[in-house]
Amino acid sequence: MPPDPTATATATAREIVAGLCAAQASIAPKYFYDTAGSALFEQITQLPEYYLTRTERAIMATHADALALRIGPGATVIEAGAGNCEKARTLCATIRPRCFVGVDIAAAFLQQAVAGLRREFPSLDVRSVVADLLDEIVLPADLPSGRRLVFYPGSSIGNFAPEAALGLLQRLRRLTDADGALLIGVDLVKSKAILEAAYDDAAGVTAAFNLNVLRHINRLLTADFDLAHWRHRSFFNEEQSRIEMHLEARCATQVSWPTGCRNFRRAERIHTENSYKYRVADFAGLLRRAGFGRHVCWTDAQQWFAVFLAEP
Ligand code: AVI
Repeated sequence: MPPDPTATATATAREIVAGLCAAQASIAPKYFYDTAGSALFEQITQLPEYYLTRTERAIMATHADALALRIGPGATVIEAGAGNCEKARTLCATIRPRCFVGVDIAAAFLQQAVAGLRREFPSLDVRSVVADLLDEIVLPADLPSGRRLVFYPGSSIGNFAPEAALGLLQRLRRLTDADGALLIGVDLVKSKAILEAAYDDAAGVTAAFNLNVLRHINRLLTADFDLAHWRHRSFFNEEQSRIEMHLEARCATQVSWPTGCRNFRRAERIHTENSYKYRVADFAGLLRRAGFGRHVCWTDAQQWFAVFLAEP
């Protein structure tokens, strides 16, 4: 049965209000990705400070032949968090799959992206699944048989705390069949200066991306956040090995919605995102715990980023 839109909207509103009213206020990072937020994220991936995307792309290009050889043609590629399907394009040209399934929470953006992929690869069987990666992912029942490659690029796994990341890896493991594989990009621990610049760029795109979440919340909750009252804050928390993003009140301010309100003191923060950075050995351990017994790991010369190809 399709989800009841009123029940979904109520559950969403409840979840947002719970986050806003907690002692340490928070907004879940999935709310970054309305249409404007998805476009801003695309701009982030092209920023000089945001090394993640181009480093991952370079690693994949270097090891394209090895990857094609290991996976073979005619596979089904399932991309978790497919976004604009840009990375899928390169992967499909490399390994020549029979079927591609894009999975993402941003329905409109995903439909547009898979339509582009269909035009570019007319013989590829292209599907889309709108899903929150925090839930079990239900794939179409009529996928072709054959090898499955689950693709989760961009170090999006870093946006989950380690235990939640383990749960997600276990769900991704369940999407692969016995001889399937997971291809996953992971950002690595490096100097604080490089990490912090990547999440606070000179052009202010990351700041705009962070602030845009308030616009999205205003729409979802019929709330009245005044964006001029908030500023972007980000820093590397070494103890937790994560970049934290927050929105900090520039002045005492109130936000209200139809069923309530919250007052914020000057300098009080709303926590919007964590981006965990791993050491290769620690991520390999997480893969093992998730049921991937074997893996190869490719990195760049500076060891800034890693791509793991893991098998059950
Ligand atoms: C989507 N994710 C991998 C990005 C990251 O680097 O954690 C989201 C992001 N937030 C700010 N800049 C990019």
